[in-house]
This record gives sequence, C-alpha cells and structure tokens, in this order.
Amino acid sequence: MQLSLRLPPAALCRLASVVGGSRTRSSSSAAATEKSAPTLSPPATSSQPAQLEVNGSTYATDSWTNVTPKILSYLGANKHLQRDHPLSIIRQRIVDYFYGAYRNQRGNPLFSVYDKMNPVVTVQQNFDNLLIPSDHVSRQKSDCYYINKHQLLRAHTTAHQVELISGGLDNFLVVGEVYRRDEIDSTHYPVFHQADAVRLVTKDKLFERNPGLELFEETWSGKLADPRHILPSAKIMDQTKQPCHTLEAVKLMEHEMKHVLVGLTKDLFGPRIKYRWVDTYFPFTQPSWELEIYFKDNWLEVLGCGIMRHEILQQAGVHQSIGYAFGVGLERLAMVLFDIPDIRLFWSNDSGFLSQFSEKDIHNLPKYKAISHYPQCTNDLSFWLPSDVELDAGFSPNDFYDLVRSVAGDMVEQISLVDKFKHPKTGKNSLCFRIVYRHMERTLTQAEVNEVHKQIAAASVDNFNVQIR
Ligand code: DAH
Repeated sequence: MQLSLRLPPAALCRLASVVGGSRTRSSSSAAATEKSAPTLSPPATSSQPAQLEVNGSTYATDSWTNVTPKILSYLGANKHLQRDHPLSIIRQRIVDYFYGAYRNQRGNPLFSVYDKMNPVVTVQQNFDNLLIPSDHVSRQKSDCYYINKHQLLRAHTTAHQVELISGGLDNFLVVGEVYRRDEIDSTHYPVFHQADAVRLVTKDKLFERNPGLELFEETWSGKLADPRHILPSAKIMDQTKQPCHTLEAVKLMEHEMKHVLVGLTKDLFGPRIKYRWVDTYFPFTQPSWELEIYFKDNWLEVLGCGIMRHEILQQAGVHQSIGYAFGVGLERLAMVLFDIPDIRLFWSNDSGFLSQFSEKDIHNLPKYKAISHYPQCTNDLSFWLPSDVELDAGFSPNDFYDLVRSVAGDMVEQISLVDKFKHPKTGKNSLCFRIVYRHMERTLTQAEVNEVHKQIAAASVDNFNVQIR
C-alpha cells in the first residue's frame, strides 16, 4: 500500500507550487494543530544553541528555530553562479533572454540582475510584504526553515520584491537558492533555485499609442491600502482584475507578459514546444497564471506569474505604475532541458556530471548522459509515535525527512510513508517509512546501508521519542 502524504494542490494553499519543481504544498492541517499539539523537536533543536551564526551574522534561536546544520551548510554554495553548472547555464539563458527582449533607447538592457542577495530574510519580506495571509499554510514551521520567529531562509526569491522596488528599481530579475522543507524524491530537494522578475510600467509607456487611456478606474479612491489589513485569500479570487485597475491596463500588461514568457519558453525549449496557460491564485498577484509545457506525455508547470497586487506597489512607494511579476524554478527547467533525471545531481561534484556542461555553446547543449546506474538498497523503518502524538499533529513527516537528510545526506534517493495504523487498544500510531538508498557516484554495500539505517533509527528515538518496532 502506498500512502501519499500530499494533499491535492488546493489553489488556496499556493504560495507557490510551481517553481520548486513538481512541488505541491504539503498537508494544510499541520498549521492548525501545531500550536496545541505536543511539539517534537526536529533534529537541530535537540541540542539547540542559544545563538546561530548564519552568513556572518548572529541570530538568537527560539522555539521557531528549525534550521539544521546540514541545511545551513548549503548557504554560499551558489550553484547558480558556478561556471559550467547546468543551473548557472539556465540562469545565464534567462538573463540573456531578458537583456535581449527589453532594451532602452540607447540599446542597453532594461533589466538589472540581483543574484547574490542574502537568503536570510524576515517574515515580513517573505510573507507580510507580499500580502500572504497570516494563517496561510506556506508560513508553517513544517514547511519553512526558520532561524527564529522573525527570520527564515527565504522560501522564494519573491521575498526581495518590495525592497528592490522601494529602492527605485522597475525592471529587475532576482536569482538565488530558496529553502523549503519537503518530501524526498527525485524532484524534491530542500534547497533549490528560482528566478523572479518584476516589470513596472507607467501610464505613458503602456498607452504610448493610446494617450487617452488610464491605468486606474476613475471611481477608485486611490487610497493607500493598510498593509496590516491583508484580505483573506478567498476574497480576492476574481480572475478578471483588481478593483483599482482598468481592464485595458490589465489586458495590455497580460498580453506583454504572456508574450515575453512564451518567448522565453521557446527560447529554452525550441519553437515547437506545446504550452498552455492555467488560471491560478497567488496572494501577491491578481490575476495569476501558471505556464505549463507538454513534456514526456505530461503537462508540467514551469512558472507562476501575474499582475502585481497594487497594495504591494503602494507599500513600496510606487503609485503611478502597473506591474507584472513571475517566478520560475531553475532545477525544473534544467531537468527538462538537459534530461537530468534526479535533482541530487545538481549537488554532485562528480566530474562525469559537470564536464558534460563545460565550455560548450550554452544555446546548443546536448542532453545529459547518465554517469552510471548504481543499484538501490531499500530498507523499511517502523516505529510507534509517543502515545500523545498524532501524525501531522505534533509529528510532521518533514521532521523525519530532515532527520534522515542530516544523518544520511544524499545517500537517500527517496522516502515514502508506506503504512500507518492506530493500535486499537493503546491508541498509539505506528508509521512505516520505506527508505531507498542509492548513491549518485558509487555502489553502496548492504552493510554500509544497514549501518546508516541503524543510525537513523537511533536518531529517531533520540529526537522524536519514538519506539522502534
Ligand atoms: N513565488 C512563487 C513560488 O515560489 C512564484 C511566483 C508566482 C513568483 C507569481 C512571482 C509571481 O513573482 O508573480 O511559487
């Protein structure tokens, strides 16, 4: 029996499903239960220091802290800037495309690129500034890596939007790695890369050829929205437009944005790629869309985008423009473009992998050729949760996945929850996880796997107070 931990990707759960790969948000029930349920510590917190040193700054820890030393070790890896790395090639292709698509009168690129922003951001940057409701599932401790209650490792590059707009920018790209707690399989990794873009346009530019038209409805008061008053998601589902905008302004922006994004897709995947637009919801854009491409018999989400919520621009001091924004996941693009089968390969230093991308014409790269297929070893781990703890209420599978990553690193290819049941007499919950071990670069012996598996079991007992069955 294969149990799925994922819920259907309810539109309202979306920060963000697209840009992480095949990411669907995990269970939405955990947020509601987290406060009341007994809390189990994730691995890093069992011996949590009072302070953490991250990227040269010191942060106090608290009950929100859930970053692990393993996760912190990814900071500064900058795979998107590493020469000949497939993620760096994708970054360069996106940047080149935007440099070419938008030029000023002197022929210089209109967009500026920010690819070294500090991934440590505030809750305000990652969520509040983007009007993400305070009860939104994407804020959960089980979904993000918090340094403390106020700071976290950014969960999307959209977190930098408001500071850059406030700084006076109106056409920019942000590229960097983002951090999310999630399941373990060939398309999910707790650190992955995104590019986000913003383009703001004034009335004069947008309606150059129709000077009589307006960006804003005459009836709209122009009043600054109170940023503390974040509307519940359900109230803003109107896909046509935001109340402040005129339909003609929205339609023109939509047309320009879709034209550019289809252009980018064709630039990457070739002119014959099949694509479609799907209406969706993001708290920070309205209307919002996802772009899907047809790849290997499936429709695959590759990016999210939309017309920026005007309250966001107002907060950033911009009152006379309309904007579009989008976010795209680099691993997903690279996996499709180069046929890379496993997301762990992006972290490989194996020369057999990296050399395939070196010193070649980045617009004409061959598909990835598997280095080798090493055998898998599969071991199950079953345990009883403590009697007062339920699945998703006090115990989140993401806590277990982080522990496995901390102990076994990239030896683990996949974990699935294969069985769970409640004992009729004791009321205790039993879980069985199937762990598939496979190294990217060498054959693992069963003895070696057994040793690591034992360490995972011991760490589970220490950290979660479970009883191995
Ligand atoms: N931040 C979203 C995510 O992580 C993607 C996204 C959607 C970015 C729409 C945007 C946007 O800037 O306008 O999935």
